[in-house]
Amino acid sequence: MSTWQNEPFVIEVKEGEKKAFCLCGKSKNGPYCDGSHKGSGITPEVVIFDKARKVYACGCGKSAKRPYCDGTHTKS
Ligand code: FES
Repeated sequence: MSTWQNEPFVIEVKEGEKKAFCLCGKSKNGPYCDGSHKGSGITPEVVIFDKARKVYACGCGKSAKRPYCDGTHTKS
């Protein structure tokens, strides 16, 4: 079952924490990559956060600023 949703995932990250965000939309563990992209030619966006903060990760897969939410989910 997919975990994608029509709103951002709100994530608290720590300084130095590394996250691999899914960009293919096939992950069953959205917004994170679970390896389902294999063979698609798409790779995850790997981010190492330089400081602790709250992140709004795209949940709908339509943001132009993926892996981050840009509010596109409110326009469909
Ligand atoms: S599962 Fe989507 S980019 Fe890896």
